[in-house]
Amino acid sequence: KRGAKSVGPNMTSCHPSYGRKDLLVDCCPPGFQFPLPFVDFQFPDPQSPLRIHRPAHAVDVDYIAKYDKALSIMKSLPHHDPRSFSRQANLHCLFCTGAYDQQNSNAPLSIHRTWLFFPWHRMMIYFHERILGSLIGDETFALPYWAWDIPQGMVIPDMYTNNSSSFYHTMRDVSHLPPQTADLNYVWDTKLIPEDQIDINLAFMYNQMVSGARKTELFRGCTYKAGKEGYCNGPGTIELAPHNALHTWIGSSLNPGREDMGKFYSAAKDRIFYAHHANIDRLWEVWREAHKQQLDIKDPDWLDSFFYFYDENLRLVRVKVGDVVDTIKLGYSYEQVHRPWLNMRP
Ligand code: C2O
Repeated sequence: KRGAKSVGPNMTSCHPSYGRKDLLVDCCPPGFQFPLPFVDFQFPDPQSPLRIHRPAHAVDVDYIAKYDKALSIMKSLPHHDPRSFSRQANLHCLFCTGAYDQQNSNAPLSIHRTWLFFPWHRMMIYFHERILGSLIGDETFALPYWAWDIPQGMVIPDMYTNNSSSFYHTMRDVSHLPPQTADLNYVWDTKLIPEDQIDINLAFMYNQMVSGARKTELFRGCTYKAGKEGYCNGPGTIELAPHNALHTWIGSSLNPGREDMGKFYSAAKDRIFYAHHANIDRLWEVWREAHKQQLDIKDPDWLDSFFYFYDENLRLVRVKVGDVVDTIKLGYSYEQVHRPWLNMRP
């Protein structure tokens, strides 16, 4: 059965969109023309080595040097190259602020607060990671993940706060730099001591991953289908917090929308975005495993929803949600860490 109400973009419809209520932004690709030739997604060669994601707080200097090198090449590419960092960052602006209309409809396409949240971000970091790897000729390159769900990851990992790095990102809330412990359900600053904040965070993780996420829809967000009638607004547990909460917590309090991380249009300009989403992606896997894949979505409208991304060979690829449900087929996995929140039943 094919998805008759699947969501996908009309690629000829790109238009300026609202990055904030009071800010119109234009993230559309330059020299835009469509129909562009595209290819359908193919899995990477199953013989190639798995890309293993490691926690950002545990990577070594050689890894950081390698990632920095890839990123500096990516940042030096011109904006008309879809592999460039500015274009990569704009992907988030395009699909998260309604810059495209849906296919066969003038309904806006926006993937947040719906069941497209997990798969769309998986696609984004999948291609981003492969582009980085190809720029340094390393087909095992894997992004780090920011393991904010475990105590060692509850401060911003050092590799993101090194102010002698040429990638040091200033659009952040300085009061949340290390040694400040993150509040995974951040709304405003509290005066908790780290030990108490960590306990609260672990109990919160238990709630978002286990007790509050026993049904598919609670975890993955609402059922979003094509057209105006298909719209929904119901984020899953993890999307709401820690995901949204940490976007806000990282972004600069001096900017009206706590940019960069605080708003969709600007979030992916901060490299920590990619580690944040690698962790979200990992937690999707953790949740699936916890339920032995029994709660996976079978609806063809979800499986056939699709997007377009450029790959490391500059090909435009049409990729469906159903293509990205198995990380091993996608050629990657996550190094396990001990998860104390699993036993944090209040
Ligand atoms: Cu599309 Cu972390 O947001």
